[in-house]
Amino acid sequence: MCGIVGYIGQQDTKELLLNGLEKLEYRGYDSAGIAMLNDSGLNLFKVKGRIARLREKVDMNVQATMGIGHTRWATHGVPSEDNAHPHQSASGRFTIVHNGVIENYQALKNEYLQDVSFGSQTDTEVIVQLIEKLSEEYDTTEQAFRKAMDMLKGSYAIALIDEKDNETLYVAKNKSPLLVGIGDGFNVVASDAMATLKVTDQYVEIQDKEVVLVKRDQVEIQKLDGTTVEREPYTAQIDVSDTEKGTYPHFMLKEIDEQPLVMRKIIKEYQNGDNELKLDSAIRDAMKACDRIYIIAAGTSYHAGLVGKQLIENIATIPVEVHVASEFSYNMPLLSEKPLFIFISQSGETADSRAVLVKVKELGHPALTITNVPGSTLSREADYTLHLYAGPEIAVASTKAYTAQIAVLAILAVDTAQAKGNNLDFDPMQELGIVASAMEALTDQKEAIEALARDYLSTTRNAFFIGRSTDYNVSMEGSLKLKEISYIQAEGFAGGELKHGTIALIEDGTPVIALSTQENVNYSIRGNVQEVVARGANAMVISMKGLEQDDDAFVLPQVHELLTPLVSVVPLQLLAYYAALHRDRDVDKPRNLAKSVTVE
Ligand code: F6R
Repeated sequence: MCGIVGYIGQQDTKELLLNGLEKLEYRGYDSAGIAMLNDSGLNLFKVKGRIARLREKVDMNVQATMGIGHTRWATHGVPSEDNAHPHQSASGRFTIVHNGVIENYQALKNEYLQDVSFGSQTDTEVIVQLIEKLSEEYDTTEQAFRKAMDMLKGSYAIALIDEKDNETLYVAKNKSPLLVGIGDGFNVVASDAMATLKVTDQYVEIQDKEVVLVKRDQVEIQKLDGTTVEREPYTAQIDVSDTEKGTYPHFMLKEIDEQPLVMRKIIKEYQNGDNELKLDSAIRDAMKACDRIYIIAAGTSYHAGLVGKQLIENIATIPVEVHVASEFSYNMPLLSEKPLFIFISQSGETADSRAVLVKVKELGHPALTITNVPGSTLSREADYTLHLYAGPEIAVASTKAYTAQIAVLAILAVDTAQAKGNNLDFDPMQELGIVASAMEALTDQKEAIEALARDYLSTTRNAFFIGRSTDYNVSMEGSLKLKEISYIQAEGFAGGELKHGTIALIEDGTPVIALSTQENVNYSIRGNVQEVVARGANAMVISMKGLEQDDDAFVLPQVHELLTPLVSVVPLQLLAYYAALHRDRDVDKPRNLAKSVTVE
C-alpha cells in the first residue's frame, strides 16, 4: 500500500527519494510524487502510474537537501495526478504525504475548512489545509502540527514540509507504520525500512500518537501534549542484498526458489545445540493454558492458518478456529473461557488483523503474532511473537512466507504437544529437512511446470482447483495465486462440494487442477476428477508419490502427510507464475493489489 520516504541532510535528495520510492514499489501503488525544498521554494512533481514516469518528469536540475516522497494506493478518490501525494495547502506553504485513512475528514472539512477550495478528492488534503488554518492561530508550526494530529481520527503516517522552515521535517503516526532512520549529518523517514536501508540501518521506532521533529542532526520525539520522549535507535536486521532480484527476472521466482533455504533457516533458528526445539517458554505456557485457539489472518496467511488448524488439532490436540480478520471484528463468535489468539501476518501490518488485535487486548486475552517482521505493529502489540525467518518478501504474491508460516505452526504444534506430554511419532526438524529437499526437487522442474501452465492456462478464462482435507486448503491458496497474478478467474473448492452447484460451470476445456496427497481421500478426489472429466474438463492431477496413477500430470516427492501443503503448493505457485508470464502480466506488481494492506 502507500509508501513514504523523506530525507533531510547535506546531499541532494532527488536520487534518494526516487530510489526509496522504487524500493517501496513492491507494496503496490497507482501514483507517485516527490516534493523538495530549496532556497527558491518548493519543487513538486507528481504522476499517475509508475515511478519510471516520475523519474522522467522530475527536473534533474533541481538541487535540494530536504524532501518527501510518496507512492499512493487509492482509497479516497481515483488514481490521478491531482489525487497523488504530496498535497499542498491553499497558499502552498505546507506540503504533506500521508498513509492511512482519516475517518473524520468530512467532519473536519465541514467544521473548519468551508472557505477553502480543494484541489483533490483525498482525505489527506484535509490534513494539510487544517494545518495551514491552525498555523494562523498558533505561534509555531510545531504547535499547529501537534494540534492537527490531535484532531485527526483514523490511521496516519505523515511527513510535512513547511516552506518557511528548511530545518525540519514534521512527522507523526497513528496506527500506520513509520520509522525515522538516523544517519551521520542526515536523517530519513520511511514507512518501511526497505526504502532507506541503502543509507542507514539505524532506526527509531515511532509509537502511535507521537510527533517527531526531524532535523539534519537531531530527532526529537514528542507526545501530543509536547512532552519529549527519549528512545534509542535499533539496528534493522535486513540485508540489502535480500531486497535485490539478482539474476532472477522476478522477485516471485526468486522467492519460490528460496523456500528450501527458508525451511533450513527455520530448522536452525528453532533448534538448540542438543537438537531440541527452542521456543519462548512463555509461548509454551500460553499454548498449554488455553482451551481453544483462534487464528486470525487474511488472504494467503488465512490459508496458512487453515493448514495450521489441522497441524495444531492433530499434533497438540487443542481445538482451533480460523477466522478471516476483516469479518471477525463484526462477527465475533462466542469465545471459549480461556482463548489464545494467534495472528498470522507476513507483514505484521495488516489493518484488518490489527483491528482484531486491538479488540482482543481490550478484552484482556493473550495474543501471539507469527510474522516475518518482528518489529511490526502486530508483533509489538501482541504478547508474544514467533518469527518466520523468511527474509524480505518483495513480490506482492506471497510464496515463501506461506510455507514459512506453515513450518512455524508445525513447530509450535509439536512444542506444545511435547509440553503436554502427548505421544508423538513426529520429529518436526527431520520432517522439515525432508520437505526442504523435496522443495528443491520441485523447483528444479520448472520446465515441466511451465509446459503445464502453457497447456492448461495460457488462454482459459477460468480455472478450478480441487482437493479434499488439507489439499482443499492448498487448492484455495493455489487459486488465489493464480487469480492475483494472472487475472484468470479461479476458485479453490472442496472436491466433494463441486457437484452441489458449481459443477454447472464446467464446460469443454475448463481447467480443473486436482491435488491428491492424502491416502484417506485419494479415492474420493479421483472420483471427483472423473465427474468433471465426464463434463468436458481439462483435468490435471498433481499427486504425491505412492498415490500416483498413470495419467497424473505431476508427481510430488513424498513427505510426511501432515506437511504435504509445504510441497503441493510449490507447483501451484509455479503454475501461477508461468500462467502470468504467458499472459504478459506484471508478475511482481499485479494490478490493484498492495503488499501490505494497511487500511481496513
Ligand atoms: C496474497 C497475499 C495476501 C496477503 C494478505 C495478508 O499473495 O499476499 O493475500 O497474504 O494481504 O497479508 P499479511 O500476511 O501481511 O497480513
